[in-house]
Amino acid sequence: MTHSAVVTEQSPWRRKHLLGMEGLTREEIRLLLDTALSLREVNRRDIKKVPTLRGKTVINLFFENSTRTRTSFELAGKRMSADVINISASSSSVSKGETLLDTVANLQAMNPDVVVMRHPESGAHALLARHIEAALVNAGDGRHEHPTQALLDLLTIEDHLPQMGRTSLDGLTVAICGDVLHSRVARSNAFALRTMGASVRLVGPPTLMPAHAEEALGARVYHSMAEGLADVDVVMVLRLQRERMSAAYVPSVREYFAFWGLNESRLACAAPHAIVMHPGPINRGVEIASDVADHRHRSVILDQVSNGLAVRMAVLYRLCLGSQGKGVQTLP
Ligand code: CP
Repeated sequence: MTHSAVVTEQSPWRRKHLLGMEGLTREEIRLLLDTALSLREVNRRDIKKVPTLRGKTVINLFFENSTRTRTSFELAGKRMSADVINISASSSSVSKGETLLDTVANLQAMNPDVVVMRHPESGAHALLARHIEAALVNAGDGRHEHPTQALLDLLTIEDHLPQMGRTSLDGLTVAICGDVLHSRVARSNAFALRTMGASVRLVGPPTLMPAHAEEALGARVYHSMAEGLADVDVVMVLRLQRERMSAAYVPSVREYFAFWGLNESRLACAAPHAIVMHPGPINRGVEIASDVADHRHRSVILDQVSNGLAVRMAVLYRLCLGSQGKGVQTLP
């Protein structure tokens, strides 16, 4: 095992913020994935800490609940020696009526280097990016984008390319299944996968499919699990986002699982090497059967979580150091 990971310099990173996957080039995505691959080794050490971001400050500002994203951004910063502060809406002065812009202006006055924000409104980050000096990371905005989820999903798929007899994402077929309408994960993945040369299928009931999905996301739409999953390399299951539903989009959870839940027999439509992904949190017996979610060979759900940490380290690294990073050194 090596004791130092070196991030090799490739194409430059020039973006100030990471707001979404839409518009990122193949080279930019490759750079973030390669940076994550280099940094991932740090998380496997006995002493999981490097001085790379010493003196940098990261603020995690979460206006929606999160387990994976918030924890991994916090750990990512801490493992690279940044100072990390966590703020949730309920514990902030937002609960006393302060606006988002005022909240961020006050945080900016303390001169952080990066603000990682999750917000229920689509487009909140695009607005804020015009008013903030720190680098801004979108950790999820409404049903719009969740770029670090897409990056960790790409990294996880790439880890499993050998079992698919492939060396790159080019030509891969990915089925994104379920509640596409409310899913920022689906949008970010569709943009990222297409940019990397994969073919994307969106599979779900008409009530949970955005208007003009094929044109907007460059994907083929299927309203049958058997047809949508036929011979795909990757099955990505989405959570049924009941908290974002203002109307009855499905007759009942029971009926949804009966028609759209991923079970063993539906998974059998996919290629024999196909992997099963889910961004989490999973709702067992709603969008996915427990035996599929826990499948020893097919499910990579916890690999996604591990890769989330490496990807968030890479994003903090690039936003703090751009292309100037001198690599990752071990602590004395
Ligand atoms: N996938 C994801 O964003 O999970 P959390 O909501 O727990 O962060």
